[in-house]
Order: sequence, then structure tokens, then C-alpha cells
Amino acid sequence: MTNIVEKTTEETSGTQELYVLKDVTRAYQMGNNKINALKPINLAIKKGDFVSLEGPSGSGKSTLLQLLGALDSPSSGSIQFMDKFLEQASSNMLTSIRAQQIGFIFQQFNLIPTLNAIENVLIAMVPIKDSNSAKHTKAKELLEKVGLAERMTHLPSKLSGGEQQRVAIARALANSPEVLIGDEPTGNLDSETSAQVMDLLQNLQNENSNVTIILATHNPEVSEFARTRIKLKSGQIA
Ligand SMILES: Nc1ncnc2c1ncn2[C@@H]1O[C@H](COP(=O)(O)OP(=O)(O)OP(=O)(O)O)[C@@H](O)[C@H]1O
Ligand SMILES: [Mg+2]
Repeated sequence: MTNIVEKTTEETSGTQELYVLKDVTRAYQMGNNKINALKPINLAIKKGDFVSLEGPSGSGKSTLLQLLGALDSPSSGSIQFMDKFLEQASSNMLTSIRAQQIGFIFQQFNLIPTLNAIENVLIAMVPIKDSNSAKHTKAKELLEKVGLAERMTHLPSKLSGGEQQRVAIARALANSPEVLIGDEPTGNLDSETSAQVMDLLQNLQNENSNVTIILATHNPEVSEFARTRIKLKSGQIA
């Protein structure tokens, strides 16, 4: 047990915690083999924290992020996200949680190649009930915030890796999420560009201290940006 899981009464009763995981496991069945990707995990993540998930390949980082991102369900245990228990939520509810409260950033950026920068951001606003002009204004503001005011109509193929990841960050922020989840978000970037992306994430959080950031990474320079560093080893918190 690390100090991350030791909770005071104040923390457990207040609204400080965005996630509370109790005895969470995730096993994958592969033919006759069962892979215990996550052994019982107990963990609390505070609202507004900047968390890095570290650990060797296969230690369960992506598996844990998928659970936190409501993309997958645990084999056992409970995952409280704000006022909801994700393991009890219907798939419609999980879809709406993902669309409205979670922003994702991926190693491969995952932009739609046939849409330009602003269209890639706008598409994340489809579930939001707002006028088209309000959405357009917000998408522009987000791209300005990530330093891409001059690149709004560029297709992803006309952007550098760092620029594509900044579009992806703007897209991840389009639904004003509670939490930004990134799986190796700098994994495809050189170290200078990676530092720029991390600076950007840190500045975004300084502007809006309510947004929680959780990143899985192999890169110690990335984890140095985190206030809370969680290390996984063989599916357990090390
Ligand atoms: N869909 C799946 N089906 C079967 N096994 C899986 C699946 N996804 C992950 N695993 C297994 O679960 C374990 C944890 O995998 P996970 O992808 O979470 O590791 P990781 O820490 O993200 O690794 P990496 O640093 O390489 O991305 C590994 O043993 C992996 O092979
Ligand atoms: Mg992974």
C-alpha cells in the first residue's frame, strides 16, 4: 500500500476525489489461459491532480486507463467516478460519461485524416447541446489556446506530430471534461516536442485547476510533470 491509497475521513467524505477504486481486477481470458492484467487495485485520485502511471510494458497501465476512461469494465471490484459506480452503469450511461466528462489523448493522435484541425475539434462536440456558432467559437478558442490559431484549416497530414497532438488535446477539451486521460501521449514525439506538449498540458491545468490529468508513460521526463506518480508492476501498485 502506498500513501495514495491511505485516505483520511475528510477525503472520503468530501468531494475531493474524482475516482475511488476498490479491489479492482481485470482478467482477460485467452483460450484456456487467464491473464490477470490487474490484481486487486485500491486507489483514489483527487480532483485536479496530475497523475502519471508508470511501469514496465505489460504492467497494466493501458488496462487501468481503459477502466478509468469508462471504455472497459472491471472483472471485479468497484470504480467510483464522481457520483457514479462505473461497474454498475449501463453501456448507454458509459457512453454518455465518455462523451461528456472524459477527454482522451492517444499516442497515435487518432485525428480523422479527412477533416481539418477545427473540424476534428468540432466533431467531439456532436453530443453537446449548443448552437453551431457557439461550438465554432469554442473550437477556435481551444485551437488558439493550444497555439494553432494559424493552422485551423490544415489537414492532419499537413501538421507536424506535435501540432497533431495539440489538435488532439483541443479535441479532448472540447466537451469540457472532468478528466483528461492520455495513454503515452508523447510516445510518438521527440523529446523537445514532448516537453512542449507537457508544458501545454501543465498550463491548461494551471488555467483550470479542476481538470484532472492522468497519463500513462514510459518517459521519466513526462512523469516529472506529475504531482502524483503511480507505479504499476505486474498489475499491482508497486
Ligand atoms: N485485450 C486483451 N486481451 C488479452 N490480454 C490483454 C489484453 N489487453 C492487455 N492484455 C494483457 O494484459 C497485460 C497488461 O497489458 P497492458 O496493455 O495494460 O500493459 P501496459 O502497461 O499498458 O503495457 P505497454 O507499456 O506495453 O503499453 C499484458 O499481459 C497484456 O498482454
Ligand atoms: Mg499500454
